[in-house]
Amino acid sequence: MKASIALTAIAALAAKASAACWSEPLGYRCCSSPNAQVIYTDNDGKWGVENNDWCGIPSACWSESLGYPCCKYTSDVVYTDNDGKWGVENGDWCGINGTSGGNNGYTPSNPGNNNNQGGYEGEPTIGAQYTHSGNPFAGHKFFLNPYYTAEVDAAIAQMSSSSLKQKAEKMKEYSNAIWLDTIENMNSWLLRNLKTALAEQNETGKTVLTVFVVYDLPGRDCHALASNGELLANDSDFDRYKTEYIDVIEGHLKKYKSQPVVLVVEPDSLANMVTNLENTPACRDSEKYYMDGHAYLIKKLGALPHVAMYLDIGHAFWLGWDDNREKAGKVYSKVISSGSPGKVRGFASNVANYTPWEDPTLSRGPDTEWNPCPDEKRYLEAMYKTFQSAGIKSVYFIDDTSRNGHKTDRTHPGEWCNQTGVGIGARPAANPISGMSYLDAFYWVKPLGESDGTSDESAKRFDGYCGHATAMKPAPEAGQWFQKHFEQGLENANPPL
Ligand code: BGC
Repeated sequence: MKASIALTAIAALAAKASAACWSEPLGYRCCSSPNAQVIYTDNDGKWGVENNDWCGIPSACWSESLGYPCCKYTSDVVYTDNDGKWGVENGDWCGINGTSGGNNGYTPSNPGNNNNQGGYEGEPTIGAQYTHSGNPFAGHKFFLNPYYTAEVDAAIAQMSSSSLKQKAEKMKEYSNAIWLDTIENMNSWLLRNLKTALAEQNETGKTVLTVFVVYDLPGRDCHALASNGELLANDSDFDRYKTEYIDVIEGHLKKYKSQPVVLVVEPDSLANMVTNLENTPACRDSEKYYMDGHAYLIKKLGALPHVAMYLDIGHAFWLGWDDNREKAGKVYSKVISSGSPGKVRGFASNVANYTPWEDPTLSRGPDTEWNPCPDEKRYLEAMYKTFQSAGIKSVYFIDDTSRNGHKTDRTHPGEWCNQTGVGIGARPAANPISGMSYLDAFYWVKPLGESDGTSDESAKRFDGYCGHATAMKPAPEAGQWFQKHFEQGLENANPPL
């Protein structure tokens, strides 16, 4: 600090103040109030005098004096150092719990529920009802999931290559979906992120779209093991699905009505109803709950004007064959009617899969096992026609491009678990392909870096596909962070990061 203006009668020993303050590292305590009289200002900050000694006047937000904004929406502590607690917003560090920071002046409504996983705990003002019209992805800022940002930061901390770190940093600029994969996670994530997105919407005056994945049907993942869920295929668990899961989602969404929301509904479930009822007893056990569960949630959530729903349709190498598409037309039109008057906007394809958007090397023949839809583009073109012929009124699609930029090493396109050769695909965007007006968006539904399933053969949810020759190993449980897979996805990104 300013040797030129030394105070004469200073008590030389600056006692250690308890709260961290920008002037402390310079050897001066922090003034007791941000409203202290400013005696002097320099590049370090504003100085006051207390007890005959210089003191640093705390800025409105402690991190501002270090060149970082104060967190406005998040209270998710990503990193702590001597300066204080750090969060991340819009891909940049921000200071938490500054004098006026942390929650932008709002009073926490439910501090007891803060499990330190990020998000806005205050009560942002809810505006007038928002109603989707046209493409639900168009015209909004896409919400950045603070939890994913924190995962990426933790991943960067493990990297040594600076070019890889730079690529990883870019991941924080792109939106991906928030998976409500258990009742507990739904309770932790839904409200918190709705509030955070709304606060950002209020602050910026621009609509902020949040995408959630509804993923907790009884008997989940009936044809595989890696993502088996908490609810079993029985009536009492179905009651829990309705009352503790869907009804709670409905309640929060009904309240937070002034912001756009998209729901990707129950990945893999209906595709299993198309192809795996005959050969898989667990899918037969789940059938009633998958069908009734969809009817229940479409009636409830499909009635909300600011919520657009996409039912999962597997991917090109699942339902792409002619006979599967034909059956799919029947199954999906029946499901949509069963949820009436609730509405479905369209269908989500390639969720958590690796099928490329376009693969000009393939055409119907022995190599594709006579599948006429050997890439996502041809699949959606065909499904568009199939669903229209089946009488479905609203036929629009989104395609998950989080991991389909680079052809993976799988020897068969049915391999779905932690594939080697993975690469990020097209960035999330509305109306990404001209001439394909029924393609609402490319979006990252599966967060790159989260595992598809454990490779530990002794684990309860071990699935053989996660032990295949082309699956990366050792891999953690589905949904857990998988550094190697993430790094490979960054390296193989197409377009490059
Ligand atoms: C897992 C979920 C997880 C999701 C996103 C799924 O495969 O089963 O638990 O939330 O992936 O990573």
